[in-house]
Amino acid sequence: MNLQRSSQPVVPAPPRLARRMSRMAASAVREILKVAERPDILSFAGGLPAPELFPVRELAAAVDDVLRREGPAALQYSVTEGFHPLREWVAARLTRQGARVTAEQVLITCGAQQGIELVGKTLLDPGDRVAVESPSYLAALQCFGGYEATFLPIGSDDQGFQVDDLERAIAKGKVPKLIYVVAEFHNPKGTTLSAERRERLMALARAHRIAILEDNPYGELRFTGSAPPSLLSMDDTGLVIHLGTFSKTLAPGLRLGWLVAPPELHRAATVAKQASDLHSPTLNQRAAARLLESFDYDGHLGRIRQAYGERCLAMQGALARHLPEGTKWTRPEGGLFLWASLPRGLKADDLFADALREKVAFVPGSAFFPAEKRHEFLRLNFSNRSPERIEEGIARLGNVVRQHLT
Ligand SMILES: Cc1ncc(COP(=O)(O)O)c(C=O)c1O
Repeated sequence: MNLQRSSQPVVPAPPRLARRMSRMAASAVREILKVAERPDILSFAGGLPAPELFPVRELAAAVDDVLRREGPAALQYSVTEGFHPLREWVAARLTRQGARVTAEQVLITCGAQQGIELVGKTLLDPGDRVAVESPSYLAALQCFGGYEATFLPIGSDDQGFQVDDLERAIAKGKVPKLIYVVAEFHNPKGTTLSAERRERLMALARAHRIAILEDNPYGELRFTGSAPPSLLSMDDTGLVIHLGTFSKTLAPGLRLGWLVAPPELHRAATVAKQASDLHSPTLNQRAAARLLESFDYDGHLGRIRQAYGERCLAMQGALARHLPEGTKWTRPEGGLFLWASLPRGLKADDLFADALREKVAFVPGSAFFPAEKRHEFLRLNFSNRSPERIEEGIARLGNVVRQHLT
């Protein structure tokens, strides 16, 4: 008998992954972001808010105050629905902005991302159709894909979601169960859905009893123009689920957002959240509520809007100066991103490696398409760099594009 052991370590076969994971392929963007965040790269790839605008001092004071005054409660388990004063704050703010919302309709989530996940979990059966703008926010596509949804890609132009495209699909019998929209400063395009399209979208949803998920992480970051009414404020039949977040206004590391839904859906989402994480972090919720009581939130938002407005203009000016003729871009009224298209058949994916060599990064737009990919687009983030760095980075990008044109 040969008792000698093989020198090769035995590697156990990993467990077979659930079927849904094949619909959640690790996104290429995740890999891109890892490279792009190298310190030597001037990156416009991520979706990071400007860290110098985080209210660090004020938040430290709020955390300190909460821990001193109500430490044990702040460190204890808490209810799934969320800290009531914070729910009241969200309801009051949304009501001031034109929707009628009570604290009971608000569920505090771990960011808007968890809201997307909870809606997928509570509404979607395998094969259910979800209408999504083409392109769309990637992590929403991943989430709905994970629940084995069938995508109904809807065209997109300078005003975002093309409602007439959805009308045509519905007329052909393709009625979605859910419509996913980022109406304000879309990710990746930076576009805003016009008031007229909002009306038509609501009318379609009412006529066919389709739920709408209004994902609104950027609405508070409007630096120009005036806001059309939110879909939530236009809803009189309980079809709109609305998501918001403190990620872009206070800090994404807090992982605090909210879901507003009609009672039955709110209950279902609360049960689903309980099964997934019990509740959002108690200390963070209490600290955010204390901070909002004690500091000038609107003044703080004003500073963010001003900085992002300047950065957005700086990026548009730099694009005009450094990119060759035929390059086009959106003109966002707020948010974090703009969306550029390259001239003469150039593919953003082909530029990426050379851009890294020039020490500049972006996200190739193809990643954001739910079905047929298009390759001429790139997503550029303007919130995370100063106007000077934006000028420098876009000049580098211009060099890369020119090299590829010749
Ligand atoms: C459209 C959209 N929805 C949701 C999120 C997730 O935000 P949060 O940090 O609140 O989870 C993002 C983040 O970039 C986003 O762009």
